[in-house]
Amino acid sequence: MRLPLIETERLYLRELIIADKKELMKVLSNPESIKFYPNSFSEEKVENWIQWNIENYKKYKHGLWAVILKEGDMFIGDCGITMQDIDGETVPEIGFHIILEYCNRGYATEAALACKEYAFKVLNYPKIFSYTRIRNIPSQKVAKKIGLQFYKYFEKNGEKQIAQVVSKD
Ligand SMILES: CC(C)(COP(=O)(O)OP(=O)(O)OC[C@H]1O[C@@H](n2cnc3c(N)ncnc32)[C@H](O)[C@@H]1OP(=O)(O)O)[C@@H](O)C(=O)NCCC(=O)NCCS
Repeated sequence: MRLPLIETERLYLRELIIADKKELMKVLSNPESIKFYPNSFSEEKVENWIQWNIENYKKYKHGLWAVILKEGDMFIGDCGITMQDIDGETVPEIGFHIILEYCNRGYATEAALACKEYAFKVLNYPKIFSYTRIRNIPSQKVAKKIGLQFYKYFEKNGEKQIAQVVSKD
């Protein structure tokens, strides 16, 4: 059992482990959840995703973490900070993926708000970004609810993306 890194009222966040693959597939491999991505993830891609985050923890001291609902100790998705290329700049970015049956209860917002505070207070980043395809309104809403504002539109993977940002001060 991994120790929680971040705790909120209803959630805790801990490092992902390979054994989370089946639970994480409930979001990343669900075509309905992942409808704004080009394809849902194969089992191998989800395993690579977890491995990428395990490397991120070592390299940057952050990555996407497992989001666990305290009530029932349920794995409900991932949320955290990874380094991403936004229009040629490599920046810390907050990302989140929540299993469909747990969506629209404010869990992504609660986890992302705690990650934003962690990025500023623990990791000492001056700015934190989020980006998504412009069609992904729920993702933009979560970023806005935690205080991020419009930064720019840009192209990535042949699709129009929107980036949002907030500064520490
Ligand atoms: C984006 C995501 C993480 C949000 O998770 P969540 O736990 O449902 O988020 P919250 O409940 O905190 O907030 C969701 C917001 O989106 C809104 N929303 C949900 N579906 C919507 C829709 N179809 N159209 C408009 N708004 C929508 C909700 O009403 C809520 O906003 P509100 O509080 O202003 O009403 C979740 O939808 C998800 O995992 N999507 C798939 C993965 C993904 O695209 N991740 C982002 C990658 S960039």
